Amino acid sequence: MSIQQLPPELVNQIAAGEIIERPASVLKELLENALDAGAAAIRIELEAGGKRLLRVRDDGRGMSAADLEMAVRPHATSKIRSLDDLEQVATLGFRGEALPSIASVAALRLTSRCPDSDHGHCLDPQDPQSPRPAPHPPGTTVEARDLFHQVPARRKFLRTERTELRHIQELIRRVALGRPEVAFQVSHNGRELMHLPALSPEASGDRVRELMGAGFADAALRLDTEAAGMRLSGWLGLPTASRGQPDLQYVYLNGRMIRDRLVSQALRRAYADVLFKDRFAAYLLHLQIDPMQVDVNVHPTKHEVRFRDGGLVFDFLRRQVSRALAESGASAVVEGSNADPAGEGRVQQVSAAPAPHGPLPRAVEGQTGRLPLAEARALYATETAAEDIATPAAAPEDDADASVSSSMPRLGHAIAQIHGVYVLAESSRGLILVDMHAAHERIVYERLKQQYAAMSLARQPLLVPVAVNVTPTEADRAEDNRAILDQLGLDVDRAGPEQLRIRGVPALLKDADAAGLLRDVLAELDNPGQDESSEVMEDRMSRLLGTMGCHGSVRANRRLTRPEQEALLRAMEETPNIDQCNHGRPTWVELDMAGLDRLFLRGR
Ligand SMILES: Nc1ncnc2c1ncn2[C@@H]1O[C@H](COP(=O)(O)OP(=O)(O)OP(=O)(O)O)[C@@H](O)[C@H]1O
Ligand SMILES: [Mg+2]
Repeated sequence: MSIQQLPPELVNQIAAGEIIERPASVLKELLENALDAGAAAIRIELEAGGKRLLRVRDDGRGMSAADLEMAVRPHATSKIRSLDDLEQVATLGFRGEALPSIASVAALRLTSRCPDSDHGHCLDPQDPQSPRPAPHPPGTTVEARDLFHQVPARRKFLRTERTELRHIQELIRRVALGRPEVAFQVSHNGRELMHLPALSPEASGDRVRELMGAGFADAALRLDTEAAGMRLSGWLGLPTASRGQPDLQYVYLNGRMIRDRLVSQALRRAYADVLFKDRFAAYLLHLQIDPMQVDVNVHPTKHEVRFRDGGLVFDFLRRQVSRALAESGASAVVEGSNADPAGEGRVQQVSAAPAPHGPLPRAVEGQTGRLPLAEARALYATETAAEDIATPAAAPEDDADASVSSSMPRLGHAIAQIHGVYVLAESSRGLILVDMHAAHERIVYERLKQQYAAMSLARQPLLVPVAVNVTPTEADRAEDNRAILDQLGLDVDRAGPEQLRIRGVPALLKDADAAGLLRDVLAELDNPGQDESSEVMEDRMSRLLGTMGCHGSVRANRRLTRPEQEALLRAMEETPNIDQCNHGRPTWVELDMAGLDRLFLRGR
């Protein structure tokens, strides 16, 4: 075959293959064009899951008759003129290929009017007489009908109306979450699906609540932080709002929705300390960066981006997010019915009461009648497992009245233990309930991490080695991963084809069921990362430490003495990320006096 220039129609269809996969991708292009045109309100009409009709009407700056003709030509754009422009592009579109691509796979019609002209024009690429004058309010309507009608090979891949509509709704959700100042109205087969009013920045939480749900909104932390020339703002779902799948993760880079590996990895790492294993964080974040520092022209769909200094961005995201999570102090305060009406419908931080956010204040050393910090710390120190905690000399006497003082530690003082599961404490604001098991799990995990990071994991040789029966594969895996096991403080060797022997464990876990511990660690070792970058390794180690942490906590139904309860509270105050256990469940809740009064219908 001799070399020939492809006909433009075919060129467009090939280009369309890159960006138009399904009705939702057509809609994405049309919505981005409307937003680039400065629309304040966008109306979307759909038929048959967008397969039969997608119509987008905006009130943006519109197009003249001449522009309409240009708009559907390949590589025609009003958004950039030069390479310089491309390097600092601020619009969502810039490739000048969306409309011609859509025109090659669907029946496209554009009607538009500039605000300063008294009528609009309609362009139908099939009609040689067009553009023709047509009535239209200022703005633009784009209609795409019968997607892939002339391209049977692609039409085959379209799914049911329901499925395509689901993709469309997710797309609209993503676009609308990124632009709360724009109103969106959506109908399908003549039925109204969504009506989102335009919101002021202060009210943008309303849209978050509407589209991401109350479950997220009620357990989200507002973030707005700047460093190194970057700004990160939005909402971070607390661990209690975590999900079984990564379906509530929205990231916008300079207003553009992106799905970027570097970004999601950084966020995953930031959450690694408060979320366990198979849980996924929920968040909505806007990252603002100098456009010169990022290349958005990596892929035709523009979902991926390339950062000039990826390491810097990674670090910034990870640090800001983990700091915000660690500092949130947003343990679940038991909410009474005091939802402040002004805040109703808005995203609020979890604590409805004015809980002091920020890091837990350190307990004051040598407090009268209370357990000194050093001793409290010693109680939970490396070598001491909860089982062995002896009553210290300086046990607090039972002074029920020396209670409310301003120097009271954050988690108050222990009063009692309830059914071997909860510790009840009196705090300066009311009462606190601690889930002993969950709290201890977190304490042990953080200690393990700390010791591991300092390469000083304390070990406890076992007097009598524990034999563990395993499968030959598990035995091999243990042998292959000896270095890792060793770093984790597990001294394991092979006793036979199907038997391992544990000779030592981390001191923090000396009372744990060693066999169960080893089995869990081996199971976790079964999922090695695809690439062995240091990030992935580090990730894996913290997962392993998390698995181990679960084996170290106080058994349920164990009676703690008062000093032990007190020590637990003090240790909690010293532990990062203490508000949630390794599995993301809360470790403590607080019921303040106002909440108590409400329970008893007691006016104050
Ligand atoms: N809704 C609209 N309102 C006003 N002008 C529009 C609208 N839609 C498209 N245009 C004009 O048509 C041009 C072509 O649109 P098209 O989507 O094909 O390319 P683009 O947006 O420039 O780049 P990309 O291919 O990256 O989307 C745009 O540059 C813009 O000038
Ligand atoms: Mg475009």
